[in-house]
This record gives sequence, C-alpha cells and structure tokens, in this order.
Amino acid sequence: MQVPERVITNHDLEKMVNTSDEWIVARTGIRERHVVSPGETASEMAIGAARKALDEAGVRPRDLGLIIVATSSPDFLTPPISSQVQHALGAKDVGAFTLVAGCPGFVYAISTAQQFIISGACDNVLVVGVELISRYLDYTDRTTCVLFGDGAGAVVLQVTDEPSGVLSFVLGSDGSGAEHLILPGGGTAAPPTHETIDEGLQYLRMNGRQVFRFATRILGKALKQAIQQAGLTVDDIDLFIPHQANKRIIDSAAKYVGLPTDKVFINIDRYGNTSAASIPIALTEALEQGRTKPGDTLAFVAFGAGLTWAASVVKLGERTEPQPVDSESLFSFMGSGLGRAFGAMTDSLGSWAGRLARKVRLN
Ligand code: ACO
Repeated sequence: MQVPERVITNHDLEKMVNTSDEWIVARTGIRERHVVSPGETASEMAIGAARKALDEAGVRPRDLGLIIVATSSPDFLTPPISSQVQHALGAKDVGAFTLVAGCPGFVYAISTAQQFIISGACDNVLVVGVELISRYLDYTDRTTCVLFGDGAGAVVLQVTDEPSGVLSFVLGSDGSGAEHLILPGGGTAAPPTHETIDEGLQYLRMNGRQVFRFATRILGKALKQAIQQAGLTVDDIDLFIPHQANKRIIDSAAKYVGLPTDKVFINIDRYGNTSAASIPIALTEALEQGRTKPGDTLAFVAFGAGLTWAASVVKLGERTEPQPVDSESLFSFMGSGLGRAFGAMTDSLGSWAGRLARKVRLN
C-alpha cells in the first residue's frame, strides 16, 4: 500500500466547514484521512504500491502477463493510468488496462485477473486499486468532504498448483441509482467550461441517505451470496475485509450475515473512504497486524458509484513459485507488503474446470 504523508484530522475539518469531530465519528467512524499535497498524483501512489507488491511477490515486472488498475480518479482521462504504471515499472510491452467500477473496482479487478489466469492466458497479474478523490471534493461541502481519503494498494495474483485464491465472486450494478453519486462535469457530457466550473460540476455530488440505504440493502445480501457460492458458511470466514465507507454500513453488513465484530477488519478511522483502494489497503494492514495469516479465508464486499457492488471470498495460502498453467491450476494471491499467497482450496475447482471447457461465440 501507499498513502500520502499528509493527514487531515476531523479537527482540521472543523476549521474548514461547519462540522464536528463528534458528528463525523458518530455517523461514519472516521477520525482522520490521508490526503495528497499539491503536485502529488494518483499514478505515483499506484506505482509505489505496485512496486512493493511485486517485491514481496518476487515477481519481476517483465514477468507480468497483465496489469489492471482499478480507479475512478486517474491522473488523466487519457492516457490510461494503467499505461503510466506499466511504463514506470519497466513492464515492457505488458498489456495494461484501467477498470472503472466505482469503489468495488478492486473486487471487480481481482475477479477479472482470475479469469486470465484460469484460462491460461497469464501466469502473473498485477492488480492495483488507487484513488485520489480529494481533488474531486468541494471543501465547503460538509456532506462529502469529510468522508474521503487518498491512497493505493496492490496485489499480485499468480498461477499455482494449489487450488486457491478467489473462491467466489458476486458482481452487480444498478445504473438506475446513477445520480446518487456522480461527478457531473469534466467528462464528455459536460466538458469543462467557465459555466460548468462556476456551477461546481467538477465536484463529487452525493445523496448520502440514498447511498446509505442502498449500501445497507445490498452489502449483506452480496456477502451472503459470495459465501454460499464458495460452498462455505459464515463460520468458515476468518476475517471480513469490507470496503471502508462508513462504520455503520460495515456493522450492518456483518450483522446481516452473523459475523462477530472480532472477525471484521476496520481501519476507516485512519483512512476514511479511499474508494477502490480501501480493500487492498485494509488487506495490507490486516496482514501486517497479524489479523490474518496463511490459510485464512477472507470475505471482501464493496459498493459504490454506478451504483455498483461486489463481494468475494478468497483464501490466503503459502507463498508459492509460479507454475506452468494447466487446467487444474487456480492461482495464488500475494498481499502487498507481506509476500503471502492465497492457498489451498476448493470445492469450486470442479466448476472452474468446467468453465474452462466452455467456448465463446462473439455475436
Ligand atoms: N457535519 C455535521 N453535520 C452534517 C454533516 C457533517 N459533515 N454532513 C451532514 N450533516 C447534517 C445534515 O445536513 C443533516 O442535517 P439536517 O438534519 O439539519 O438536515 C444531518 O447532519 C443528518 O444528515 P444525514 O445525511 O441524514 O446523515 P446520515 O446519518 O445519513 O449520515 C452520511 C450522512 C455519513 C453521509 C451517510 O448518509 C453515509 O455514510 N452515506 C453513505 C455515503 C457513502 O458511503 N458514500 C460513498 C459510497 S461510494 C464510494 O465509496 C465512492
């Protein structure tokens, strides 16, 4: 993971907008967040996190088969940030793309990476979640500026002989709620003009109550579905690492599936909502703090702009050397900063092998 050095506390925000530490902590669980300084960029954070993940995984940039960067706040609309990351890493000619799926982007990205490994297309895939939401924020709007922070997290997924890694995933989208979380200006629908700037269309707008309602409705269900799809029960989950958007939303999802609080990882108090970076940042900290260890089964769940959601069950395992791809191999998953991989499993091996036999018709 990599986050900016600069920290903005709730008390700092009290001096900027009409808010209070008490309100922010009670309604969100956030106490402080890391925010970039002028001149710092999303690509720098992404590259920093990616380098650490590759070092820990013992994978050379040129051995990567693919790079996926999940973000909604790249340096530029074009060129893609994924190519900036690819170039800076020295991953010569490696395919790279940017995945935009709101806050669940990281879960979408590891689910996508898995398909490339299972199909035999790639042995090593780098997945980065990075966000620099602070530059989308209106620091006079207390309903949004208190919520978000900046940062990046990265993992390397590798082919392995052990059946391991992502045991299940649930991806969802409901575009009917698009207006509840939107950056109205700056895209092709409303290119920047003096008028759009005067109207503040370059700032993130959110209907907090609607998003809150959506999140509490969808998260628990998606999580339950992912656990069932993995052929597991909630008792098999060693640690729940949710998207860190709001502690009350996390508590409600954990309660819905019956996860006790000691199985829920929370670091929103120190980072705020870092969108697509929040799960890999939390995963890195969970590993560093010894909250998770090889062999553990983890559950990820996230929601965000779109509106979108995603849940996934993954299994941590021992670090393994890359193996030649064969139809019975799944892959390992190395948490950045710690060189641990997702390990043995799974009941779902049969179903993945079945999918490999399927063919594709493009119409
Ligand atoms: N400080 C003080 N008061 C505030 C603040 C603030 N920062 N923000 C809002 N208020 C006020 C409101 O104006 C309102 O006052 P009123 O009753 O006089 O109108 C009152 O607090 C209550 O506002 P609500 O919006 O009802 O507060 P709620 O309990 O819903 O909490 C919150 C607001 C924290 C935004 C909540 O709705 C939420 O977390 N929603 C989900 C947001 C989210 O997670 N978005 C990101 C998801 S996608 C992604 O991660 C990119």
